[in-house]
Amino acid sequence: MDGPGKISVAEIDSLLYSANHDLSRIAIAARIPALSRGWKGSMEAFLQAAKSGIRNGNPGLASSSPSAPAWEGFRWAKVVEVHRETHEVTSVVLADLERSPFPSALPGQYLVLRCLPEKSSTPLIRSYSISGAADLGTYRISVKRGTGPGSRHIVDTTQVGDKLEISAPRGEFILRPGGRPVVLLSAGIGVTPVLSMLHALASKSTESPREVWWIHAARSAKEHVFAEEARQLLAAIPGSHSAIAYSKPDPTDQHENDLIIQGHWDLASLRKLGIPVEADFYVCGPPAFLKDMNRDLISLGAPQNAIHQEVFGSADSIEPGVTKAEVKAPHSPVPLGTGPVVSFTRSGLAVPWDSRYKSVLELAEACDVPVRWSCRTGVCHTCECGILGGRLRYTPEPLDRPASGNALICCSTPETPIELDL
Ligand code: FES
Repeated sequence: MDGPGKISVAEIDSLLYSANHDLSRIAIAARIPALSRGWKGSMEAFLQAAKSGIRNGNPGLASSSPSAPAWEGFRWAKVVEVHRETHEVTSVVLADLERSPFPSALPGQYLVLRCLPEKSSTPLIRSYSISGAADLGTYRISVKRGTGPGSRHIVDTTQVGDKLEISAPRGEFILRPGGRPVVLLSAGIGVTPVLSMLHALASKSTESPREVWWIHAARSAKEHVFAEEARQLLAAIPGSHSAIAYSKPDPTDQHENDLIIQGHWDLASLRKLGIPVEADFYVCGPPAFLKDMNRDLISLGAPQNAIHQEVFGSADSIEPGVTKAEVKAPHSPVPLGTGPVVSFTRSGLAVPWDSRYKSVLELAEACDVPVRWSCRTGVCHTCECGILGGRLRYTPEPLDRPASGNALICCSTPETPIELDL
């Protein structure tokens, strides 16, 4: 055994995969020239997480959350304001019951809400991005009335004084620090997380203003949600740029402060804007918009790792070696089990556990809930996801436990009803 630090292959293996994360040895391993970029990246991730005060979970394997959730599970919040933004979109401001300030969120994060449309009904669990400034001590969410019972309940019936259960802010679609230009692209109600980022970029406490591009798509000015709020924020950012595409504008849909085009954003129209390709891109909207923007930004020369996307609903699955003929919408399995209820909150599905499955991962697969996995035995952390409530039993015991507020679903079964961020 020679070379820097005299670390054996077995020790490096155990630094990454077991619960032995000796930072002094990890720091040595990160400097070994012969180690591949991937392994070095994993070692660096431990060091970065330690710098940010994260000391649980396995940041070298899981794309660890930028910070642990501020609280586990749900807590009660009170509706203190309700605003009708457009005929379809309503904003709800939530505060702590005792009016203590809520912990700051990171710009771009979302809340999971648990509410009971009727006293006797099953609770509805839905995720909504925080649309306002992330550090006000309250959280504002904005909901578009769709066909589902969750959005209809919130838009049609929520009133000041109502109580709702909310999770801590979660999610990794967040504004990253740095000095590069920021391009915020959104369509429709996908504006909500990037609006929260715009609040942060316009904040007086931001030390060095970054070049900001605000690119939005809506049907018309009537359905252009948060138009005025965005204009005011952009006005506070020196040299900011704004461009709006209306697909079905009314003849009077013009505004002196916006560049307005008719149609949809595409490669040609984005190219005309002259957006910098050495920027950080944050894109949010329906799946087709994300797909088109990703393709067009790459054609413009933006590196893939600078394009961050948030889609409403569940994340893409990772299933090595599996080619699916078609992607099905999440659904209940047949037959239904009789065990504790497992809620897949992003998929809007709650199903009783059945002991014919060996793990929660197997149940998720039976329901066509998008999942991520690789080893399926508690080693690689690819299946790690958020858990909002409930207890899991691990069998086999994973080599390293997940971060606080997270679960490894490939090697666990529910002990109680659980709510997963899937
Ligand atoms: S730990 Fe590898 S898939 Fe779960």
